[in-house]
Amino acid sequence: MGVSSLSTWISLLHFSAYALGKSPPEAFAQPPSAQVDSVDPLIGNGGDTPNSSGGMIPSTAPPFAMTRWVAQTRQNYVSMTPYNHTDTKVHGFQGTRQPAIWMGESGQVVVVPGAGTVKDTFKERGMTIDVDSQVITPSYYSVDLQALEGGKIFAEQSATSRVGHLRFTFDGTQTPYVLLSASRPTIIGSDDPSRATIIYPEGSASVSPEKKEICGWNKERQDSIIAPISTPAKGFKGYFCARFDTPFESWGVSSNGTVTPNSADISGAAVGAYATFGSSRVVEVRIGTSLISIERARSNLDKEIPDGMTLENTALSTRSAWAEKLDRIRIEGGTDEQRQIFYTGFFHALQYPYEVDEYGHYYSGYTDSVKEGISYNGYSIWDTYRAAWAWLIFFAPERVPDMITSMLQDYKEGGWLPMWKNVIETNIMVGTHADSLIAEAVVKGVKGFDEALAYEAVYKDATVPPRNDHNTSYSDREEGVDYEVRAGLGTLYAQKGYVANDIHSESGSRTLDYAYDDYAVAILGQHFGKPGSEVDKFMKRALTAPFTIFNNETGFMEARNANGDWAGETAGWTEGDKWAYSFDVVHDVDTLIAYRGGNVSFVESLDVHFDDGHNDHTNEPSHHIPYLYALAGRPDKTQEKVREIATNNYFTGPEGLTGNEDCGQMSAWYLFTALGLYPVNPVSGDYVVGSPFFSKVTIDLPGVKQPLVISAPGADKHEYIQRLTFNQDLIEHPIVSHDMIAKGGNLIFEMAGRPTTWGTDNIHIANMLVTPHAHILSTIPVPPSKHATVPFWKAEHSWTNLRMLGLDPRK
Ligand SMILES: *[C@@H]1O[C@H](CO)[C@@H](O)[C@H](O)[C@H]1NC(C)=O
Ligand SMILES: *[C@@H]1O[C@H](CO)[C@@H](O)[C@H](O)[C@H]1NC(C)=O
Ligand SMILES: *[C@@H]1O[C@H](CO)[C@@H](O)[C@H](O)[C@H]1NC(C)=O
Ligand SMILES: *[C@@H]1O[C@H](CO)[C@@H](O)[C@H](O)[C@H]1NC(C)=O
Ligand SMILES: *[C@@H]1O[C@H](CO)[C@@H](O)[C@H](O)[C@H]1NC(C)=O
Ligand SMILES: *[C@@H]1O[C@H](CO)[C@@H](O)[C@H](O)[C@H]1NC(C)=O
Repeated sequence: MGVSSLSTWISLLHFSAYALGKSPPEAFAQPPSAQVDSVDPLIGNGGDTPNSSGGMIPSTAPPFAMTRWVAQTRQNYVSMTPYNHTDTKVHGFQGTRQPAIWMGESGQVVVVPGAGTVKDTFKERGMTIDVDSQVITPSYYSVDLQALEGGKIFAEQSATSRVGHLRFTFDGTQTPYVLLSASRPTIIGSDDPSRATIIYPEGSASVSPEKKEICGWNKERQDSIIAPISTPAKGFKGYFCARFDTPFESWGVSSNGTVTPNSADISGAAVGAYATFGSSRVVEVRIGTSLISIERARSNLDKEIPDGMTLENTALSTRSAWAEKLDRIRIEGGTDEQRQIFYTGFFHALQYPYEVDEYGHYYSGYTDSVKEGISYNGYSIWDTYRAAWAWLIFFAPERVPDMITSMLQDYKEGGWLPMWKNVIETNIMVGTHADSLIAEAVVKGVKGFDEALAYEAVYKDATVPPRNDHNTSYSDREEGVDYEVRAGLGTLYAQKGYVANDIHSESGSRTLDYAYDDYAVAILGQHFGKPGSEVDKFMKRALTAPFTIFNNETGFMEARNANGDWAGETAGWTEGDKWAYSFDVVHDVDTLIAYRGGNVSFVESLDVHFDDGHNDHTNEPSHHIPYLYALAGRPDKTQEKVREIATNNYFTGPEGLTGNEDCGQMSAWYLFTALGLYPVNPVSGDYVVGSPFFSKVTIDLPGVKQPLVISAPGADKHEYIQRLTFNQDLIEHPIVSHDMIAKGGNLIFEMAGRPTTWGTDNIHIANMLVTPHAHILSTIPVPPSKHATVPFWKAEHSWTNLRMLGLDPRK
């Protein structure tokens, strides 16, 4: 990046400066926490298209909450979030379980305040808001609404994990009422209108004036069409039970625009129920939610926000939960904007997967029954295995064993570990990366789940193909198919090491992803003392499979058809192209480097990748790529690139994320990168060193006595590293292991204003620094060098992994 682009970096930060909205009143700013105050929940809500938006909403809830609450400005569906910062009307306050913009809603409920004539339909009930009046924090939200028949409603919102808490103050309005919208017309499909269909999921609502309650349910589950056919979760319902603090003056029900006063029960399409409150001016309501029953929704309410608990108390407990996490990282140096981006990323990274057990019991969509235990939904594993999971292992270790146990329950109940589990599996994206989640956790010392069952489950991933593998493409969001898992394992991968492009979709990506998953299974097998021959089998496949699709004529990965023919350079990729995927062998970068002609040629190919605009940080396949420079002897280039990427893809304000958050992965990249580390190969337990952003970061890791202090004096001005020590031991390679730092200690970076030879162990590379750009090839394909054309097992520098496992095929 050099000096001139470093100053661009600083000025960009300056110009993107964005003031956070209104600060909360004193009572909602407790406990004090500068870290929580730095969170801007609007970050990631903007963007022109679903793809270019973070897909995040300014929701109110504690970490990993079952139900998150948000002012509803739109009807949400796959590709549409319930809040859009450009909207000027609020149609109610929604308890949502939509974990990502490309995922659907399930079992939501909307609380709608109003005054005068009761309006139930989405369109009619919208009230203009004073956009600037909004107070938006993780634990408290408020807004001024213009009531439809005059006057104002001041709406305030907080929530615990399973219970929403709202307070409405009516000022100069007609008779106040609050409606609970139990079911709604819902959009199934995606933003493509030709595929979208409106359906009316069944719902029910009933009023109990004696208990001051309105309770009900709906069967809405927008992703049901892509669920594996063998587990339809037929009985799924989202239940709610709302309890008011104010006696009902009158009540009634509604159905798709028709309001019926003096009626207490209704069921069917687009139903709701309401109560009116006479001359009361302040109405408070707590809404228990459940996936089990109305009784559970009520008992969740009684447990989390018992009668008498004020909105201030609720907000205090939720803010405390965020502070308990966010206060663990204290930053010195950097700008306000960088801290906003960092702590908002931290806030995003601790939302999913979301807990769905209700004090000892949970609804299993796989068996369609209530089970005992702890459970989580909302696993976007193709995204989160990269860095978001590593962040959870660091900062939510108390939950990781339960998250794994939940995955193992999915395995027991549905037959497979999750890929993208929401209420049940959704088959979105490819690979069985739960293998990686479990292996990484084990490598990092996580205990507290059934290890034998875990190995059984990953072993199945690696050995059992999906149903009808021979004649099913398992294409993206394909309907009417069974669990996708390793589609193509049976047709060719197990036999030849690649997935046939003429049989399966996304075959090139699958080949590389399955190879990495095989590596995870091998490492897990090794940790659990499985027979060497079994470990070797998976490790050998992990190390050979990627290169079955390396086209030595072009220097790129390329999918193949069943007969071995190349499928064409654009075929077989998912959410990436041949550029990104040709760098996708994170578990054996040495061999990849050898295939691409050795360090120098590899670095050149990275330069072309970046210089010609092929790196797409908005999508996950590019996330690890800037860190590969460091593994090819050019840590200085990693140091430049990661700063450049952070500058170009993370901002304050609604447009702050250039790509979908994907349950925390987009932010986890920033969080690790800002600390100067990134888990390129998560299962290795190593982090590759980048370039820390802040002069000092003090981290209190949960359960660890001594803090981890990452010092990098001058990091705001200097991006290069000239020396690195941990507890005074010199670190000479750009690698830091989890074991080393996970118990705390002092990681000290000495920064430099120009590229250095730190972390290189090669004289030739050091010499290249004198004229850094002179050697760059401007054309691609890079002609395969001598090394690249030699089968990899004869190449010189690819032995580390194989030898470690006694697998050196030269013997
Ligand atoms: C938000 O609304 C604006 C205006 O309708 C629209 O252009 C934009 O695409 C929306 N954003 C998202 C993420 O849906
Ligand atoms: C947006 O993402 C969807 C889902 O991954 C994909 O089908 C679509 O092609 C993407 N659109 C653009 C413009 O990138
Ligand atoms: C609900 O009302 C809308 C608009 O009046 C109508 O088009 C739709 O058919 C109704 N749906 C049901 C299920 O009654
Ligand atoms: C795939 O093959 C199975 C039998 O092996 C058959 O039952 C099924 O109908 C086939 N599906 C398609 C789409 O051809
Ligand atoms: C390539 O770079 C790596 C990382 O610096 C180094 O360990 C390796 O020895 C280099 N290989 C060659 C052949 O120089
Ligand atoms: C290049 O790859 C092909 C397989 O696609 C292989 O047959 C050939 O031996 C390779 N060439 C060299 C020089 O390694």
